[in-house]
Amino acid sequence: MSEITVDVDGTPRRLTVDTRTTLLDALRERLGVTSPKKGCDHGQCGACTVLSGERRVLSCLVLAVTQDGARVVTAEGVAARGQHADGPDAEEERGGLHPVQQAFIDCDAFQCGYCTPGQVVSAVGMLDEFERGWPSAVTEGARPPRLDHAEVAERMSGNLCRCAAYVNIVPAVQQAAAAHGSTAHGPATPVAAAPGTEAPR
Ligand code: FES
Ligand code: FES
Repeated sequence: MSEITVDVDGTPRRLTVDTRTTLLDALRERLGVTSPKKGCDHGQCGACTVLSGERRVLSCLVLAVTQDGARVVTAEGVAARGQHADGPDAEEERGGLHPVQQAFIDCDAFQCGYCTPGQVVSAVGMLDEFERGWPSAVTEGARPPRLDHAEVAERMSGNLCRCAAYVNIVPAVQQAAAAHGSTAHGPATPVAAAPGTEAPR
């Protein structure tokens, strides 16, 4: 057993964990933070994605003991993290939402409650990665010039949905990138949801 302290969504949390406990189980079972979802528990679906030290991690593959002293952000905490991203007035207009969350609403990109939290966190993380100039597998050259469809799709490819209803996520990420002041993006035109795949109301 190990005693650890983890900052979760801005609140320091202290707990004693078995060294075999994953970060996902520590968050959900020990701390009651249930926005990271256990979709596969094998690092294959992205539903458990959180930020740790600004980087995207699959919390089902990370041992909680490795997060001692870390700053973890879940889908519940990205709103606070996005405050003042484009000015306090804009923040107030959004009702406290992160630009990515607002873009998911505007573009009807919300899917089910299982995969959406991971997608939102992953989008927040990938926009930061893009701003830092990190290339992806489809980037031509050393630095990605723009967040076109191929760049966004590749950078979000770790977040799966078995329902195949992804169509509006790319426009949402591109809209969030524009709100965030990213250098380039493609058209943010929402696509109509496929029958039976409407976002939860
Ligand atoms: S639950 Fe972690 S990747 Fe699926
Ligand atoms: S898994 Fe969430 S909508 Fe498909």
